[in-house]
Amino acid sequence: MAKDGEHFSGGMGINTRLAHSGNNPHDYFGFVNPPVVHASTVLFRDAASMAARTQKYTYGTRGTPTTDALAHAIDALEGSAGTILVPSGLAAVTVPLLAFVSAGDHLLIVDTVYHPTRNFADTMLKRLGVEVEYYAPHVGAGIAALIKPNTKVVFTESPASNTFEVQDIPAIAKAAHAVGAIVMMDNTWATPLYFRPLDHGVDISIHAATKYPAGHSDVLLGTVSANESCWTHLYESFCTLGCCAGPDDVYQVLRGLRSMGVRLEHHQRSTLAIASWLEGQKGVARVLHPALPSHPDHALWKRDFSGSSGIFSIVLAGGGQKQQHAFLDALQIFGLGYSWGGYESLAVPVWLGDRVVAKAPYEGPLIRLQIGLEDVDDLKADISRGLAAAAAA
Ligand SMILES: Cc1ncc(COP(=O)(O)O)c(C=O)c1O
Repeated sequence: MAKDGEHFSGGMGINTRLAHSGNNPHDYFGFVNPPVVHASTVLFRDAASMAARTQKYTYGTRGTPTTDALAHAIDALEGSAGTILVPSGLAAVTVPLLAFVSAGDHLLIVDTVYHPTRNFADTMLKRLGVEVEYYAPHVGAGIAALIKPNTKVVFTESPASNTFEVQDIPAIAKAAHAVGAIVMMDNTWATPLYFRPLDHGVDISIHAATKYPAGHSDVLLGTVSANESCWTHLYESFCTLGCCAGPDDVYQVLRGLRSMGVRLEHHQRSTLAIASWLEGQKGVARVLHPALPSHPDHALWKRDFSGSSGIFSIVLAGGGQKQQHAFLDALQIFGLGYSWGGYESLAVPVWLGDRVVAKAPYEGPLIRLQIGLEDVDDLKADISRGLAAAAAA
């Protein structure tokens, strides 16, 4: 039987689908990978077809065989009607928001959101006349009390950036849909392997493909996947904005996707080993990782998620910036750098000064860790160096 991308999209195991979905090698002479199509102009056979614009590809910004291969692979994972590919994870947040909110609309955003999402809402969206309001991550069905007649979008991100609270997505979606509002979710942490937003009532699923799909800290890309009712408007808005991703980056992410399942399993295993070990370490007040039974949202995480990835935070037992910086400066393997989802371990100081409602008190400073593909014992030894330095500071 001919190997074709569609044939592999349903019913089979996740690693089989990751390895084969997206493109049909026989569409391009049997080469296993799709071509990297560098394109602006697409030629039409005659004036009639130009006028009708019915041929499959019409212009580089609207899609190519390369972007289709990745978008179809993502659709197979998300269960979505269509996916757009944009130049960064941040663009994967801003493009759908621009597509769906207008002047006079009310936008509800979880207070524990990725900071640049808040920055976009507080600057550009407010300037464009959108009313922006932040809600607590544990709001659940209580979101109904915050919804107004002009609420257009409820924006979610779960687990939370930096503090890892889990949102009750089905309850939020039910309340939002009752008044016709759209639910968007930044699902970068779980990837569609460990949480499928559309199955839980989300209308638009957002990913910084920069993280686990790309996996090597060398590509920026975002994906936005919509259900049937939002897809046409999302795609037309994407074409209106001209915010398309470059072919080499798209190809790199499809390449990364093939091994994402095995990488994520490794990230998950190492991260859980380190997170549970950290719970018993002197100098650590708390470990913020929803897959740990001690986490207050563990039951919710277990109900909805089928796995966990590689970032979480620790709360130091007392101290302040001096201890936080001492910990970070003592690390030899963990790099100090933003982003995550790559092969290498990273640590960043957490800043929560932007929060307006979710200002939980913490016992000490927070540090976010991204656990890479290195050996767990080496990473534990590095973290022990950090803890010793914080204790001595
Ligand atoms: C949750 C989340 N969403 C979106 C982004 C943005 O991704 P990018 O760096 O590709 O713009 C990030 C980046 O750190 C993130 O952590």
